[in-house]
Amino acid sequence: MNSVMKPDMSVILAGIMLRNPVMTASGTFGYGEEFAQYIDMETIGAFVTKGLSLKARAGNPTPRIVETPGGMLNAIGLQNVGIDAFIAKKVPYLRSVNTPAIANFFGSTVDEYTEMARRLDEIVEVAGLEINISCPNVKQGGIVFGADPGSAASVVSACRAVTKKPLIVKLSPNVTDVVVMARACEDAGADALSLINTLIGMAIDLNRRRPVLANITGGFSGPAIKPVALRMVWQVAKAVKVPIIGIGGIMNAVDALEFMLAGATAVQVGTASFINPGAAQKIAEDMEAWLISNGVDDIKSLIGAMET
Ligand SMILES: Cc1cc2nc3c(=O)[nH]c(=O)nc-3n(C[C@H](O)[C@H](O)[C@H](O)COP(=O)(O)O)c2cc1C
Repeated sequence: MNSVMKPDMSVILAGIMLRNPVMTASGTFGYGEEFAQYIDMETIGAFVTKGLSLKARAGNPTPRIVETPGGMLNAIGLQNVGIDAFIAKKVPYLRSVNTPAIANFFGSTVDEYTEMARRLDEIVEVAGLEINISCPNVKQGGIVFGADPGSAASVVSACRAVTKKPLIVKLSPNVTDVVVMARACEDAGADALSLINTLIGMAIDLNRRRPVLANITGGFSGPAIKPVALRMVWQVAKAVKVPIIGIGGIMNAVDALEFMLAGATAVQVGTASFINPGAAQKIAEDMEAWLISNGVDDIKSLIGAMET
């Protein structure tokens, strides 16, 4: 019987060793523990927490989720337990699993972002930070940090100054030129970039002549956004030196491998976990099977390997 050589699935992401490139996306995987009964946490590369803020937030009124053809809209409104309850109630679980946990966070001023980075920096169980810059700056007329290179750079450099942990910046696709934003964040000290966050969308109920979501607009995610995300990952990968995490509509191993060819070092699985809470594990296993059947012995050889 032929013994099949196991391919090397590991990647290094901004100094964090991942057993494979598959991560879960913020807001679709709770704080990890909620999914522990559905997934073997030690089969995935890393997981990302729900976006955290200084104070707990109840989020938006309902309805705040709706399915659309090829995807979904959400307007959760960044509901989360807040940093104190995170430390008291969620961090003990992080300690119990042998898989890196990345803390996603946000603020509404540069000072709030900085304070969050400082608090998260003190938590040994947090392997890295992911900054969600898709939030309005209340001190600058509500302009979204992630839509303005100067605002994004000021958040990233302020956070950089208070943490030595790997700093990932999550880019918004709701911009004219994602490369300008990527370069601004890299220059300000980001160790890695993750993209994309959701696209702003809306849904209307014709009979009621009303928006479906109480918030009117919401973030669009799922398979329908994959071509946009792939294009942005490819553009950014050509323009920066830091590693990239590809996100957007990844439903299976083929999708994930395509993101790696476009230039991603790792990927995040979001909406797919709502269809199958074990999706990230299945994707990691199927990626390995694809490598074996295609004679690829190291997954790192696929990063940016698209031929044009
Ligand atoms: C219900 C829901 C909640 C989300 N919450 C967050 C969040 O708190 N912080 C964040 O950076 N991204 C959040 N996202 C965005 C996802 O992490 C991801 O970037 C996006 O959904 C695209 O990936 P997907 O198509 O695989 O879902 C959320 C997405 C969904 C669907």
